[in-house]
Amino acid sequence: MTTTTLDSATPFTLIGGVPTVEAFVDRFYDLMDEEPAYMALRALHGPDLGPMRESLSSFLTAWLGGPREWFDRRPGACVMSAHSRVPVTAETAAQWTEAMSRALADTGVDPAIGAQINAAFARMAGGMAARPAARALNG
Ligand code: HEM
Repeated sequence: MTTTTLDSATPFTLIGGVPTVEAFVDRFYDLMDEEPAYMALRALHGPDLGPMRESLSSFLTAWLGGPREWFDRRPGACVMSAHSRVPVTAETAAQWTEAMSRALADTGVDPAIGAQINAAFARMAGGMAARPAARALNG
């Protein structure tokens, strides 16, 4: 007989749950809002980043293995498709990944877990920049 052991540890619980996710998402949007280095990325967003803070926190909570409210509220949603009308360039993809990497470090997320999260973000951001509509912008 085979016994399966379920490990309840997820990246979400290991980094500290909702308070940690909200802290690094807030730091991410603060950096985007304040740092001239992320001006091109900031310009793609609307004036009020409040709804984005909520949506990204909720998405990342689910993506990291926590409660799945973001997906429950958007049946069939895909985060890549949510960017189909966003003209992501290699430049803004790099800005996104760098600002998020800083936000994870600034808010004390465990460096080993943060490095894995970052690597996954870099792949997603790279994928967003490499789609046909974005390729036209990237030349
Ligand atoms: C690659 C660079 C990226 C750029 C330039 C970018 C830009 C944007 C923009 C302009 C919006 C819409 C904002 C608005 O309505 O004002 C958005 C929404 C969003 N983005 Fe990104 N994004 C990027 C990468 C990512 C990545 C890697 C993730 C996930 C890890 C992500 C998660 C989200 C989420 C959850 C939303 C909200 C969708 C919704 O509420 O329907 N984005 N993004």
